[in-house]
Amino acid sequence: MGNFFSEELINEIKDSNEIVDVISQYIQVKAVGLSYKALCPFHNEKTPSFIINPEKQIYKCFGCGEGGDVISFIMKMENLDFIESIELLAKRANIEINRTESLEDIKKQIKGKNLYYEINKKAGLYFYKNLTKKPNPALKYLLERGLTSGILKSLGLGYSIDSWNSLMQYLQEEGYHLSDIEKCGLIRPGKSGGYYDYFRNRIMFPIFNVRGEVVGFGGRVIDDSMPKYLNSPETQVFSKSNILYGLNFVRRDTRNRQIILVEGYMDVVALRQAGFKNAVASLGTSLTEFQGKLLKKYCDEIIVCFDGDEAGEKATMRSLDILNKIGCRFRILVLPDNKDPDDFIKLYGKDKFQEHIDNSMSLIDYKIFLARNEYFGDTIEDKVKLAKKISDIIKDVKSPIEREGYIEKVANETGISKESIKLEILNKIGNTFVHGSKFKYSSGYRKSNSYIEMVPPVEQKGHIIAEKQLIKFMITDNKLIRYILNSISAEDFSVAEHQEIVAYLASNMDNMKDKRLEEFFPHLKENINKILLTDIEYIDLNNTLDKYIVNLKKYKLLYNIRILEEEQHNIVNNPCLTEEEVENKLLNIGTEIMKKNTQLQKLKRSMKGG
Ligand code: CTP
Ligand code: MN
Repeated sequence: MGNFFSEELINEIKDSNEIVDVISQYIQVKAVGLSYKALCPFHNEKTPSFIINPEKQIYKCFGCGEGGDVISFIMKMENLDFIESIELLAKRANIEINRTESLEDIKKQIKGKNLYYEINKKAGLYFYKNLTKKPNPALKYLLERGLTSGILKSLGLGYSIDSWNSLMQYLQEEGYHLSDIEKCGLIRPGKSGGYYDYFRNRIMFPIFNVRGEVVGFGGRVIDDSMPKYLNSPETQVFSKSNILYGLNFVRRDTRNRQIILVEGYMDVVALRQAGFKNAVASLGTSLTEFQGKLLKKYCDEIIVCFDGDEAGEKATMRSLDILNKIGCRFRILVLPDNKDPDDFIKLYGKDKFQEHIDNSMSLIDYKIFLARNEYFGDTIEDKVKLAKKISDIIKDVKSPIEREGYIEKVANETGISKESIKLEILNKIGNTFVHGSKFKYSSGYRKSNSYIEMVPPVEQKGHIIAEKQLIKFMITDNKLIRYILNSISAEDFSVAEHQEIVAYLASNMDNMKDKRLEEFFPHLKENINKILLTDIEYIDLNNTLDKYIVNLKKYKLLYNIRILEEEQHNIVNNPCLTEEEVENKLLNIGTEIMKKNTQLQKLKRSMKGG
């Protein structure tokens, strides 16, 4: 069987599959100088002798001698033949191969594309030359905006002069057919026959694909006329929703694993001039899934920095949904006063911008931020609305530890008590899982990860009695609510029903006097009665109280330690983690457990002392 695929297609496929990216999908690679090192996947070894050279896009194992390009890697790794490997890599890079097409057809297609790249490149160089011919209004404008001629050159910016046919004439003189120039979107047919230049009197931003070929242009007016930006129409080589402006420049620096996603051409240019060489623009508003996947290929984390206006906010939300969907790590950077990155850097400088990157928000933080903007008033009504909205956001946080952190943060910032926020979340979780009554829990313990109920690590009756006793103290003598809740809070109680009651007591401690708990928790009536029936030892009240409090604290520590131990177990058994990740995680958890154990010892000592 002959070689079914043309040389051009194979090159296109190789160019679109960065070898380090591909190999990293299979094994863990480490950057060493300008190349990458790994344990060879093709023979058994303890010290890495498998080297990847990103510049030449090849790999070589000095242990077993295996080596080649990205295609031979896939053949060997996936145990596929040449054609199957080509197909796999084409799919990975979203390159369509129609198997029914003849070799001739494929060749024609690629030749056509190559011609369009060539024409676009010629046009780009022509625009660039225009920009360097002084004086001209485009250069004047750009320099006045603070750009250096160095940055204009490095990004290939240009100028389409104020003429109806200068580009057309130039390209024709270079030997290109009008029909091909039209297919590049550079000229348009006029009403009275003939053609005219599409871009006139505009600053030209050449748009490159990841391989550095010019596929289209964005053109900005020099004055206030409309439209402000004109982009190349969709062509065989240009599709606005599939391309990211600036990605070709980011790619050259394979070590840069963070990408800043912005809205506009000028943002990419300004950021680059300020030293942020990892900015790309989505050419308009929100990100498409294709663009998201493309980004994911080139970085580990995306900093989403869209304009702060309402359109920008919507674009951000839609883009985040997409990044979430494709499993991309990201954070959100919101600049003050609706500034775009270009404006911001001009006003405050690059260090401040870096600060904003370092402090950019997680998705939950961002949602909370938006909620706060929506309900910022000081009235009780606003606060309640805010608390409800935020509880709705926090309830989706899966990790109880993280959720706890958010609750704490929000309580501190809004002045709404932790207990109220928890109660609200409890309420919402109840609503999603239970039909009918608001709260409904099975009696006793329930296997659940939810923070509203702790699964006992060890059967331990004493602390449940302690919990009941403490609640009884609080109900019978309201003054004790403050005293007790000074040292512990609702979440320290292990039984969901107890947490519910304590949270309620906490937020109503000043006006509990004549309230009957059963009225607020009809479903807990029986439970409350039981609590009230628990014997109270009146001897040495303070000492007894403190003992109960310590008991609860001790229990919570034991519980947390057990959860951490379970986590350790899960990490060791997680096949997706690398050895290094496992080690790091175990170290972190081990430290946590040690801390908790120290606290536990302290508690025990205090008990003996008292
Ligand atoms: N855009 C577009 N067509 C328009 C307006 C905007 O394609 N008519 C895209 C461009 O990619 C532009 C981005 O949306 O870069 C953001 O628009 P805007 O914020 O208005 O422009 P800036 O990039 O900030 O440009 P400048 O600072 O020069 O005003
Ligand atoms: Mn701008």
